[in-house]
Amino acid sequence: MRISVIGCGYLGAVHAACMAEVGHDVVGIDVDAAKVALLSAGQAPFHEPGFNEVLARNVAAGRLRFSTDFADLADAQVHFIGVGTPQAPGSIAADLTYVDAAITALVPHLGEHPDGPTLVVGKSTVPVGTAARLAEVVAPTGAHLVWNPEFLREGFAVQDTLSPDRIVYGLPTDPAQATASRDTLDAVYRTLLDQDIPRLVTDYATAELVKVAANSFLATKISFINAMAELCEATGADVTQLAEAIGHDDRIGPKFLKAGIGFGGGCLPKDIRAFMARAGELGVDQALTFLREVDNINDRRRSHAVELARTAVGGELSGKRIAVLGAAFKPNSDDMRNSPALDIANAIAGQGASVVITDPAAGPVLARQRPDMEVAPDAATAVAGADVVMLLTEWQDFRDLDPAELKAHVATPWIIDGRNALDPVAWRAAGWTYQGIGRP
Ligand code: UDX
Repeated sequence: MRISVIGCGYLGAVHAACMAEVGHDVVGIDVDAAKVALLSAGQAPFHEPGFNEVLARNVAAGRLRFSTDFADLADAQVHFIGVGTPQAPGSIAADLTYVDAAITALVPHLGEHPDGPTLVVGKSTVPVGTAARLAEVVAPTGAHLVWNPEFLREGFAVQDTLSPDRIVYGLPTDPAQATASRDTLDAVYRTLLDQDIPRLVTDYATAELVKVAANSFLATKISFINAMAELCEATGADVTQLAEAIGHDDRIGPKFLKAGIGFGGGCLPKDIRAFMARAGELGVDQALTFLREVDNINDRRRSHAVELARTAVGGELSGKRIAVLGAAFKPNSDDMRNSPALDIANAIAGQGASVVITDPAAGPVLARQRPDMEVAPDAATAVAGADVVMLLTEWQDFRDLDPAELKAHVATPWIIDGRNALDPVAWRAAGWTYQGIGRP
């Protein structure tokens, strides 16, 4: 099938490459000419395991191309919208500028398609009600609109796109349009559906809500365990043991119970805020007041980490040397949007400490974006002369560090493990003061 994907960020570029991988003829559209040039050359503009291979293979095979020109998508039957919906400046609501711009630019190219109904498929995370509004914009062209939220995790984007836990179709209310849209989308996802991946068919509003509900639940789980970490810190209990013990109850489950410096990234923080903003508009803000607390607990983790560093150096950060291991919001990604690690590093630098930061993938990006920051090529270089070392993104490279070897480089062997990723016994045995989160 001929497919277009509008927006070639983390979501859209991976979706475009994966749609080509399953055999479709795909064009990715983005307004950023530099990004389009890189993608067209088969080079990933961001770090995502496995993506480069899928991208390069499909570009070379001629099934995947990229363009800045919407005219290049005119012969596609199915158009995916994968543009960003960031937090609006000065607000907690979502900024729909890019979604609206994508639809406006797309509409003149929509029309009858010889192979069947033309579909516009929304994948971006949007406030509930957006799909119904956009359907009206698309309707005069004869195309149908479907809402098909994306649940991929960065670091696992290719795997999650080719083998998602579930596929959700939010379909139009008109029965004939709904059936035609469902059948067309089934054809797009045939190879995935053949793997028996659950496919749920809903209305627009439910599909939009599924996405934000899932992200809110995940954020709540993380903040729940971080709240327990606060209790553990007040009582001398160990949150890692607590998480393991409650996780054995399969109604709770062991995942997303890692206490630490909290959640960040381009999705969870802005999605729970936009959800609260939308609930307010709908007059049901009370239903989501708990998410404000989820957000507050998450913010407290960051200030707590800064406090741990300040205490470690005797109460005054000014003039101290702090080595920060990790800048990305999570390992296996170079994404620093709303990164707890970077936020903490900035706050510590703001209190007068000399901060040096290292990250296997985000480091080079940070060095380009932030000439004011000292970025080291690796952990051994970063920790040289450090009064405190802080592990803030749990890359495998950092988990594998040899505490005895690292100790030779620091001024004081004091480690704050912001992700509870290290073995306290091994680090203490090597002569370090080890401090985790919510652990004695
Ligand atoms: C998330 C959702 O998982 C995904 O389904 C959705 O489509 C987009 O948002 P992502 O932002 O890629 O994906 O990252 P995720 O793996 O969910 O982690 C989010 C943040 O939570 C990271 O900063 C991570 O470090 C943190 N986290 C995760 C914890 O602090 N503790 C945990 O137990 C799990």
